[in-house]
Amino acid sequence: MWSWISVGLATGAPFLAKYFSTTTTSMISKTPVYFFSHGGPTFMYRDQGEPGAYDAVQKLGDEIVNLKPKAIVVVSAHWQERTISVTSDANNSLIYDFYGFPDFMYHEKFPTKGSPELANHIVQMLKDKGLKAETVQKRGIDHGVWVPFRVAFGSETKLKDTPLIQVSLPYNESPAYSIELGRALAKLREENIIIIGSGMTVHNLRDMHLAGLYGPPLPYAKSFDKALELAVTTHTGKERETAMEKLFERADRIKAHPTAEHLLPIYVSAGAAYEDIGTLIYTRQISSLGWGIYKFTS
Ligand SMILES: *[C@@H]1O[C@H](CO)[C@@H](O)[C@H](O)[C@H]1NC(C)=O
Repeated sequence: MWSWISVGLATGAPFLAKYFSTTTTSMISKTPVYFFSHGGPTFMYRDQGEPGAYDAVQKLGDEIVNLKPKAIVVVSAHWQERTISVTSDANNSLIYDFYGFPDFMYHEKFPTKGSPELANHIVQMLKDKGLKAETVQKRGIDHGVWVPFRVAFGSETKLKDTPLIQVSLPYNESPAYSIELGRALAKLREENIIIIGSGMTVHNLRDMHLAGLYGPPLPYAKSFDKALELAVTTHTGKERETAMEKLFERADRIKAHPTAEHLLPIYVSAGAAYEDIGTLIYTRQISSLGWGIYKFTS
């Protein structure tokens, strides 16, 4: 048996590699789409956040670095605008949009560059799909981006030379509109650009104060995180769109997300992935939080 395997490795693998490399070049290849749960700002320190989610995001970061993307486009829970806004600075500054943490956290760095050309290209793509969009300058990237990205790419940024662009969420909380935004961005996947949504799969801060930072999961955290997993991982295309719109109407959604901004980024990811299936990479429910992390790929 071992000799058959070694023969297979010696002769079959190069043949297969050649076969696949010649066939895939004629097909349109699309980058995967991701969704990260980002927790709070202490997520950047492995043992002060959620170590399991930290390790999962770090592993996906290595995977993304290996894909050598042309750019990364991210939508975070912490930026909603009436006109979809796209960062367009040559270098990204950081927004320390968190309060009451130790002083040194407001000096943490995560150096990345942007791309005014790509920002203009994205705005044009969105306008072509009938969405209102504009570039903005000097906004910077918020902690919903740089905290999990520091975990994924390291504090010295393995993707220093890869432009990073943040796109705002729409202001309105319609799931259909966030899916539409994702669909309008989807073409970037054919340009070797990676799209990432950053939020939480369950996010109720009021209950977290009552149930304890590391308390056992509240019933809705478990039920909603599971329902989200089913909607994302068992359907694609229009069926998933419908399933995710129904998910939004569930009674436990209002408890899991009293406001929808942490949930909507996964609707953007699902819209960008559209016909590609979602896979659950990691989740855990703690107190009133859900830490689901997903990858969408064909
Ligand atoms: C962006 O950062 C690079 C490297 O740090 C620097 O050389 C360049 O001048 C900066 N560009 C702008 C527009 O700030």
